[in-house]
Amino acid sequence: MNVKEAKKKGIEELKKANIEEPIIKIRMILSFVLNKTKEFIMAHEEYNLNEEEEKEFFDGIEKLRNNIPIEYITHNKEFMKLNFYVNEDVLIPREDTEILVEEIIDEYKNKDVKILDLCTGSGCIGISLKKYMANANVSASDISGNALKVAKLNAKNNNVEINFILSDMFKNIKEKDFDIIVSNPPYIKTEVIKTLNKDVQNEPSLALDGGEDGLFFYKKIIKEAYGFLKNYGMIFLEIGYDQKQNLINIVKEDKRYKLVKVKTDLENNDRVVIIRKG
Ligand SMILES: C[S@@+](CC[C@H](N)C(=O)[O-])C[C@H]1O[C@@H](n2cnc3c(N)ncnc32)[C@H](O)[C@@H]1O
Repeated sequence: MNVKEAKKKGIEELKKANIEEPIIKIRMILSFVLNKTKEFIMAHEEYNLNEEEEKEFFDGIEKLRNNIPIEYITHNKEFMKLNFYVNEDVLIPREDTEILVEEIIDEYKNKDVKILDLCTGSGCIGISLKKYMANANVSASDISGNALKVAKLNAKNNNVEINFILSDMFKNIKEKDFDIIVSNPPYIKTEVIKTLNKDVQNEPSLALDGGEDGLFFYKKIIKEAYGFLKNYGMIFLEIGYDQKQNLINIVKEDKRYKLVKVKTDLENNDRVVIIRKG
């Protein structure tokens, strides 16, 4: 079977299963299976797949038909112009999260800051911060050992040094005096998870489930971060589009912090909350 025939068959299969963007996805799978660029795939329709490649291609199609996200098939997601390996143990990094990272880089680019990335998953936040802020000292933690394996691989592939810690939130965090604690924690209400797109439901529930009210991790972070931050240290949190008021209330009730700013994403949804200790 050549590329032209594989494309035709693959697109047909995906259309039958109502999978969105079939052409783009077929190109991505072919590029991954053949280890060639998308430009090559477009320009060489006569190129023949060997038996093994053909099998891998149709395995990929079958996964897409079962709502496995394309990134788990090609094992790659670009974030902050860096490449991240991803598998079923980690959330696929989202564009919205770049807002959180960019906000920190804008503010602290050349400063010697000590950063903790809680709930690091693939490591995308901590690794990008270290990559664009050479002077930063970055620790990153997660409760999932399998997620940390992925994050360590991503740090190695992107040539950055990160101190990774296996920890249930702050439990095993030994260092104090962080300038910045950043987190994109799980924030979906438990009940809402089953209403999400099927491909999102195939991401780890550990990465999605924010408890009954979706606020479990925000409450915990705000309560406990105080002891791990320098005076006037900052907390940067990604939030769901409808959680701004909840966060404002949590910060107000606590009284040890000041709400500095809420930033919106490109679609004008509230996306990042910035809080200062003291
Ligand atoms: C929404 S994902 C974020 C991943 C990554 N930071 C990103 O932005 O793509 C949340 C992460 O929190 C981790 N997590 C869940 N419960 C945790 C806990 N109790 N302590 C630490 N990490 C936890 C999950 O394993 C998952 O990797």
